[in-house]
Amino acid sequence: MLLFSWMGKLGPLILVALLLFLWCCHAVVEGLGVNWGTQATHKLPPDTVVQMLKDNGIQKVKLFDAEESTMSALAGTGIEVMVAIPNIQLADMNDNDKAKQWVKKSVTRYNFNGGVNIKYVAVGNEPFLKSYNNSFLNVTFPALQNIQNALNEAGVGDKIKATVPLNADVYESPANNPVPSSGTFRADINGLMTQIVAFLSKNGAPFTVNIYPFLSLYGHDDFPFDYAFFDGVTNPINDNGTPYTNVFDANFDTLVAALSKAGYGDLPIIVGEVGWPTDGDKNANTRNALRFYNGLLPRLAANKGTPRRPGYIEVYLFGLLDENGKSIQPGNFERHWGIFGYDGQPKFPMDLSGQNQNKMLVGAKNVQYLEQEWCMFNPNAKDLSKLGESITYACTNGDCTALGYGSSCNNLDANGNASYAFNMYFQMQNQNLQACNFGGLAKLSLTNISTDTCNFPIQIKSSSPPSLMVPSLLASLLVALPVVLFM
Ligand SMILES: *[C@@H]1O[C@H](CO)[C@@H](O)[C@H](O)[C@H]1NC(C)=O
Ligand SMILES: *[C@@H]1O[C@H](CO)[C@@H](O)[C@H](O)[C@H]1NC(C)=O
Ligand SMILES: *[C@@H]1O[C@H](CO)[C@@H](O)[C@H](O)[C@H]1NC(C)=O
Ligand SMILES: *[C@@H]1O[C@H](CO)[C@@H](O)[C@H](O)[C@H]1NC(C)=O
Repeated sequence: MLLFSWMGKLGPLILVALLLFLWCCHAVVEGLGVNWGTQATHKLPPDTVVQMLKDNGIQKVKLFDAEESTMSALAGTGIEVMVAIPNIQLADMNDNDKAKQWVKKSVTRYNFNGGVNIKYVAVGNEPFLKSYNNSFLNVTFPALQNIQNALNEAGVGDKIKATVPLNADVYESPANNPVPSSGTFRADINGLMTQIVAFLSKNGAPFTVNIYPFLSLYGHDDFPFDYAFFDGVTNPINDNGTPYTNVFDANFDTLVAALSKAGYGDLPIIVGEVGWPTDGDKNANTRNALRFYNGLLPRLAANKGTPRRPGYIEVYLFGLLDENGKSIQPGNFERHWGIFGYDGQPKFPMDLSGQNQNKMLVGAKNVQYLEQEWCMFNPNAKDLSKLGESITYACTNGDCTALGYGSSCNNLDANGNASYAFNMYFQMQNQNLQACNFGGLAKLSLTNISTDTCNFPIQIKSSSPPSLMVPSLLASLLVALPVVLFM
């Protein structure tokens, strides 16, 4: 009796406290995930990255493979995982036995109490991108079928779904009626997309799409700038009475319309990638990234959805970390998508709860950096005839994506440019002294040569598995080359 009357008095209070807690302090927008890519020359240890996820309350992660060390680090954490099959393996997965082997090795093997909480398998990554010249056109759907069938046969198909993360250019609106409601799948792949969508629907799997408002701006100077963000525009697009004030909603709803026309208007949609880069282009900077995320996250937290699909959307931010090993064929910004830098440190204030409190993410702990040593242009160098090709060499084998127009290091003078290139190469080569010579054009600096806006980074100690001897062999070859070229 006593207990009950005690409960009776305090019960409502406890309830209020609980509600307040739920309302005010969600660490992270419900269901928010991040993409963890690993195309970096110097990787943080997987355990360090997993600790970052935990410290920031991130409970979902999307991978680009199913690499063993990553999976081990995720085991036992309960973090929900999307593993992936790279495009290059799609043709193999057209062989039913190979698909079964893959599922065994990368999925069912981790399916035990204390294992990895795998929820999705991503079959390929944007395989229908126009720039791939249809290379994966014929192998993607059979791979999807074989993988889902293998999951079903292994008895995990109810829980684990295969999907194909697609780029947003698989659908479009006609130029003469560019509104979301007129969306259809791209004419050249309409039949294939319809088959894929039917298969996803039959298996209870979601459609996964990557949406990049940044790319709407990139290279399209006539694109209405504010439309890439979420704080409103003066002239919304009017789609038969529905106003669209941002390109994210418009893009998403173009897909919803395309799905409806294919007969699957209710198919669940996951946004596999969305984000904003912070360097490598005039629009890629922390100011715009902050504006983008400050618009996106509160909308997700409020389960606002889009005009055609109000409510919750499952979203994975791109990306967790900068990746200096990514191809820059799409643009210099490619290596700067992280909400954390290459060393796991936060770049700008970001409130993953969507409440726009001015707080920083929790950075990686106990990061091991190389020595406080930089490489710079040697102002006493006499023969400058090889300077141009030395810089080109350093940039080709290093990372000069911050030097270009509109980027953080674009205001350096000619010597600063050379120093930046030499330092990036030197760091890439783990500060091997021979990598800071360039026939006398470069010299070591023990003081920080960064400027106010341009950081000359110190690399981290790489956690690459010791079995990979190739990079160090390659490194010594690369170090030897400039000596031959420039002596
Ligand atoms: C696609 O074709 C273009 C032009 O023929 C070529 O430059 C590019 O390398 C090709 N890309 C791939 C991924 O094959
Ligand atoms: C895909 O298959 C079609 C039909 O069999 C064929 O015409 C086309 O050349 C193939 N495309 C590629 C890129 O292999
Ligand atoms: C430095 O390099 C960047 C990128 O290559 C270039 O745009 C800029 O003009 C260079 N600056 C000088 C002073 O040479
Ligand atoms: C070097 O200086 C820059 C600019 O002041 C700073 O951001 C950076 O952290 C410094 N680097 C190191 C390794 O101390």
